[in-house]
Amino acid sequence: MPFINNDFINDLSNQVDIVDLINRRVPLKKAGKDYKACCPFHDEKTPSFTVVADKQYYHCFGCGENGSAIDFVMKYDHLNFTEAVEVVASESGISVVYDQNAQPVDPKIKRYRDLMQKVSEFYQYQLKNSPAKNKVVTYAKNRGITGKIAKRFDLGFAPPGWSGLFDHFKQDLEVVKDLVEMGLLVAKKDKQGEYYDRFRDRLMFPIHNAKGDVIAFGGRVLSEKDKPKYLNSPETPIFHKSKELYGLHHARKHSHSIDYILVVEGYMDVVALHQGGITSTVATLGTATTPQHLQTLSRTTDTIIFCFDGDRAGRAAAWKALQITLPIIKTGLVVKFLFLPDGEDPDTLVKKESLKDFEVRIEKAHTLSKFLFDHVKAELDFDTIEGKTLFIEKAKVLINQVTYDLYHQQLIEGVAQEVGQSVEQVKKVFDQQDQSSQMPSVDEPPMPHMGEHFSDFPPSEPIVVQGPNAKGLRSKMITLLLNYPSLAYENNTVEVRVRGLKKIDKKFEILLELVQSAQMIEEHDITQEELIKPFKNKNTIYNRLNQLCIMEPYLSETQAKEEFLGALYTCEKQQKNTQNKAFINNASTIEERKKVMENIQKGKLKKK
Ligand code: CTP
Ligand code: MN
Repeated sequence: MPFINNDFINDLSNQVDIVDLINRRVPLKKAGKDYKACCPFHDEKTPSFTVVADKQYYHCFGCGENGSAIDFVMKYDHLNFTEAVEVVASESGISVVYDQNAQPVDPKIKRYRDLMQKVSEFYQYQLKNSPAKNKVVTYAKNRGITGKIAKRFDLGFAPPGWSGLFDHFKQDLEVVKDLVEMGLLVAKKDKQGEYYDRFRDRLMFPIHNAKGDVIAFGGRVLSEKDKPKYLNSPETPIFHKSKELYGLHHARKHSHSIDYILVVEGYMDVVALHQGGITSTVATLGTATTPQHLQTLSRTTDTIIFCFDGDRAGRAAAWKALQITLPIIKTGLVVKFLFLPDGEDPDTLVKKESLKDFEVRIEKAHTLSKFLFDHVKAELDFDTIEGKTLFIEKAKVLINQVTYDLYHQQLIEGVAQEVGQSVEQVKKVFDQQDQSSQMPSVDEPPMPHMGEHFSDFPPSEPIVVQGPNAKGLRSKMITLLLNYPSLAYENNTVEVRVRGLKKIDKKFEILLELVQSAQMIEEHDITQEELIKPFKNKNTIYNRLNQLCIMEPYLSETQAKEEFLGALYTCEKQQKNTQNKAFINNASTIEERKKVMENIQKGKLKKK
C-alpha cells in the first residue's frame, strides 16, 4: 500500500471545504457565521452540532465530538485514516500525493477499477432496459428486494446470450483484454480473438472494496435448475477473495454506529438484512473466513458475530472460523457465534420473523468459549473420567493458541470449572510440553497456514501442527485440488505419480479420480460442484468432499502448487520407506537382510 505524503496530509485541511463535505452527509443550516445540524453522533432534538467554516472544524456542544474534515469522514463513514484522506481528497477534486519512495500505484489497477465501474453501470442499465429484464425483475421482487435496496447495492443484470457484455465493449481491444484479465470475458478455445461473457442471464451483485470501488462480481441464476447457483469473479490483480468482504463498504456507509458486525454466508443474506434494517453485516465470498477477514473486521468493530446455519456444514464452517480466531483474538475484541435453526439463513429468517426477533437472536449469540467447550464436549463422552481427560487435552491444544494473556487465563479457568478441578491443576497440564504434538518430524516442516485444517474430519479435530500423516496429506491434496483444479491439468506428471501411489495404497483412489476429473475440464471456470459430481452416488465420499470444499486455503496458485507437489513428494517418500521396511523385515537371514539394505542404498529394489 502506498504511503500518503505527509505534507499533503497537513495541507489537505486548508484545501477542502468542510461545510460542503459535511453537508453532503448531514444537511446543514446557516446560523450566523457558522452552520448547524442535529448531531449525527448522538441522539438529539435541537441542533448543537456546529461547523465553523473559517476554522475548518466541527464541534458538538452536546456530546463533545469535534475535529477536522478528515476526522468527520473517518467517524461518519467508518473509515481508517488513509481511506478517509483519500475520500476527502477525491470529494474535493484533489489528487492524493503519495510518497516518492513508496511503491507507485500500478496504472493498470486504476484502469481496471474504472472499467469495473463501467461494467457495473452496464449491468445496472440492463436491469432497467434489457428486453429480457422482466424475469430478473420478477425474480428480485419475489425475493423481496425493493428498488431502494437494489440501488443501494447497485444490483444489475447480466443479459442472456453469450455476448451482451462483449458487444458493448468490443470496439476497444485494450478494454477487451482488460475484461479478460478481470475474468468477465472468457477466450474461446481454439478460436483466437473470440470471447464470450462469463456472466449470462444472472442477477449481478457488484463486489466493492472497503472504499467503495467495484472490484469483482457475483452472479446468481434466476432459475433453480440452472447451475452453478452463484458464479463469482476469479482472483484478479484487484480482487482477492480471502481479503474482501461483501457488504463492508455498505455496512460502513449505512450504519451510524457499528456496535457489532454480523458475518453471514451469502450475498442475499446481506441484502435481506439491510432490507430488514440490520446494516452492520458482511458476507465472506464463498470462502471460509480467513485471518485477513478478521483483521479487517477488527479494525471496524469490537464485536464480530459469526452467523451460520445450524446444520452440519454450518457448524463445520463456524468451527473453522473459531480456529482462525484463536491466535488472532486480542484485547477489546469480542467474537461470538450465532447458530440459526436448521435449514434457515438470515435471508429467510429475517423475512419470516420480525426484526426484533432477529435482534434477540443476535443478543443471544454464543460466546466463543461456550462454543469451544460445547463443541469439544460433543466429540466425547464427557460424563466419564476418560472423556474429561480427553476434554482437557483437546481444549489445551486449542486454548494454547490464544496469545492474548488475560483471555488465555480466563479460558483455563473455564476449563477448570467445566471439569471441576482446581485452576492450578489445569494450568499445570496446560503448561506441560506435549511431546507428540510438539514434534513435527524432520523431513516435513509444519504447515503454517494450512496443515491445521486438513485432518480427515475437520469439525472434530482440534488444530495440531501435524507431522507427516498420510490421511492428512491426502486431505490436503484433495482440498488443494478442489480449489485449484489446474494443479492436475497443468502438470502432466501429477496423474502418473498419483496413480503410482494408488497402486500401492488403494486409499489414493479418490485423489486419483479427482485428478482425472479435473483433467477432463474443458472450461477453466468449472465449479467445485461439477468437479465432485462423479462421486454423487457415493454418499460418504461425497459428503467428505463437500466438507473439504469449504476448507478453502488462502493461497496463491503458485503457493498451492508448491504445497501440492510437496505433499505428493512426502507421500511418495513415505510409501517408499514403508516398503523398504517391509523388505527388510521379510528378509529371513542376516545375509539376505544385508543384501536388501545394499539394494536400498543403490535404489534397486523392485516389488516382487
Ligand atoms: N456460493 C458460491 N458459489 C456457489 C454457491 C454459493 O460462491 N456455487 C457462495 C455465495 O457467495 C453465496 C454463499 O456462498 O451467497 C452462500 O451460498 P448458499 O448458502 O448456497 O446460498 P444462499 O446465500 O442461501 O443463496 P440463495 O439464498 O440465493 O439461494
Ligand atoms: Mn439463502
